[in-house]
Amino acid sequence: MNSPMTVLVTGGAGYVGSHCVAELLDRGAKVIVLDNLRQGHRAAVPAEAAFVEADLADTDALKRVFAEWRFDAVFHFAALSLVGESMRDPHLYLHGNTVNSLNLIRATVEAGVRKMVFSSTANLFGTPERLPIDEDTAIDPGSPYGESKFFIERALHWADRCHGLRSACLRYFNAAGAHPNGLLGEDHHPETHLIPLVLDAAAGKRSHIEIFGDDYPTPDGTCVRDYIHVCDLADAHLRVLDALETRSVRYNLGNGTGYSVRQVIEAVERVTGLKVPVKVGPRRAGDPAVLIASSERIRTELGWNPRFPDLDSIIGGAWAWRSRNPNGYRGPATAQAAE
Ligand code: UFG
Repeated sequence: MNSPMTVLVTGGAGYVGSHCVAELLDRGAKVIVLDNLRQGHRAAVPAEAAFVEADLADTDALKRVFAEWRFDAVFHFAALSLVGESMRDPHLYLHGNTVNSLNLIRATVEAGVRKMVFSSTANLFGTPERLPIDEDTAIDPGSPYGESKFFIERALHWADRCHGLRSACLRYFNAAGAHPNGLLGEDHHPETHLIPLVLDAAAGKRSHIEIFGDDYPTPDGTCVRDYIHVCDLADAHLRVLDALETRSVRYNLGNGTGYSVRQVIEAVERVTGLKVPVKVGPRRAGDPAVLIASSERIRTELGWNPRFPDLDSIIGGAWAWRSRNPNGYRGPATAQAAE
């Protein structure tokens, strides 16, 4: 029998990272999570995974991790990931995300590891000139966040050319939903993402949801996004490992269907049976009107096929997790205290 593969997962205590850790463990991998826990949650990392609390800025810590384990692949999620924050503080993103990733790429190359799977973003495409967005769509990042991810994609391109480090750059559209095992879900502080905020408005934890602009050139005037289940993203990360035996790859990951902000709110009302109070506010800086992926390339080349494409099911999973964990990973004790 083949020995299990050993994988380093940076940012493995975060939302998408923790779902990938679960997928890796399910498939028998040995997993080492490295996370600074500034956004991630220790409780999102299962006991079966080794855990190192460290920041990618700490090159000595990285050296120790690569000296202690021999990795078959590195999954790189650790990053700041808020578009709006990056517009307010571009340096934080252009410096922090890129320098930390360059540290990781260098340590990976020096250790002789040959595969990296990188968490990239649809924000690479800014306001695209055509839809749906495939891998040949012109890159013109919509924010310093997207620019930092593009820079890392370029660094990975050169790490392949110069050192033979094969990489998969996976451009996520709007990650959503929760793991069907009920143990993992979305828990950001502060929360800025649409679906968890609408669920909180339905549950009465927020007075209302504010729609950021209803004067976009879309059927109902609100922004359209392509929501992709976080477990389907995780599945893609595992599939690309085989491709990396022979080449580096770049894939856009979405369902290929767009839903407007109003359609998401309607879906939440349908799924929860609760009314969502709504207010319409001004546009949020940097929001493109429509982002819809074409994921034909990964479907054709690797047979990736989203298992949870239905918006109501995605929202249903997120609702189940939030209902069971009203305080996210902060645990039932706090939840009871709050009741
Ligand atoms: N929105 C509202 N009200 C809110 C929150 C969001 O109307 O309170 C709207 C936004 O304007 C946007 C849509 O809901 O039109 C989705 O917003 P999110 O903040 O949930 O997600 P974004 O599309 O802004 O960004 C997400 C990730 C990024 C990634 C991008 C790729 O957070 O990291 O998807 O599509 F780059």
